[in-house]
Amino acid sequence: MKALITGASSGLGWDMAHILSEKGYDIIAVARRAERLEALKSELKTEVEVICADITDMEQCKALAEKADEVDILINCAGFGVFGDLCSTDLERELQMIDTNIKALHTLTKQFAIKFKKRDSGHILNVASLASFFPGPLFSAYYASKSYVLRLSQGLAQELKKEKSKVKISVLCPGPVHTEFGDVANVSFGRGTENRLVKKIILPSRKVSEYAIKKMFRGKEVIIPGVIMRIAAFLRRIVPDKMLASVVYLIQSKKCIKK
Ligand SMILES: NC(=O)c1ccc[n+]([C@@H]2O[C@H](COP(=O)([O-])OP(=O)(O)OC[C@H]3O[C@@H](n4cnc5c(N)ncnc54)[C@H](OP(=O)(O)O)[C@@H]3O)[C@@H](O)[C@H]2O)c1
Repeated sequence: MKALITGASSGLGWDMAHILSEKGYDIIAVARRAERLEALKSELKTEVEVICADITDMEQCKALAEKADEVDILINCAGFGVFGDLCSTDLERELQMIDTNIKALHTLTKQFAIKFKKRDSGHILNVASLASFFPGPLFSAYYASKSYVLRLSQGLAQELKKEKSKVKISVLCPGPVHTEFGDVANVSFGRGTENRLVKKIILPSRKVSEYAIKKMFRGKEVIIPGVIMRIAAFLRRIVPDKMLASVVYLIQSKKCIKK
């Protein structure tokens, strides 16, 4: 049993590698920071193959498909966000984000799905976000990139279902999680972090990862950890987009750019 996980050097990918290893899976751990991947390897009891790769480099990304025949699970977890209003954010950084969150995820999903379909087995877990469901002022391109992940995954899942394939596609849509995500996006909840509600909303990475893996094995298509987040996802069905956009703007504007 083997799983390939992108973004295994920290946060959700790191915890999912731990959880699957505890279940007896060998891990192919992919990220850019070699020392982090080596640290992960030293902590896990099962076999770990470290692949130090930048998935925005299409050659490195496509080469990962060679691993599809030996893996049972692909987890597309690598990703990041760019915070700020669209007219002031850095275009190059945003394009890099689109390459990571969309282009690389699309490439890996497609290549692995083709091979999994041929042999009629395998799981793909794509990490989107609760952001997938909403317009995302002050995080517009990030939210839009996660909508892509959600819709791509749902579309593929339906195609495979219609073909009676045993390949399972799941998409994880968490709200805020304690990881390095905020540091990379250079943003924090600021003073709000002390607020009791905010503390309740930001979930531990291990807890989110455990929930995601459990639901993935049960074949759940859209996975939303946490009751508050499931309510939020439901509300978006009845609240008009314009109103959702102003609420999201309000929430995002409470965040602080880190110095
Ligand atoms: N934390 C949250 O609040 C939250 C909420 C919803 C969804 N998510 C999603 O969850 C996923 C995991 O993020 P996280 O919260 O765990 O953040 P994180 O701790 O910053 O982890 C991000 C991972 O992505 C990897 N990565 C980024 N760019 C890469 C590239 N070009 N090539 C290879 N690996 C790359 C990083 O590894 P290297 O830097 O070593 O390459 C790191 O392992 C992301 O897709 C994020 O959008 C997070």
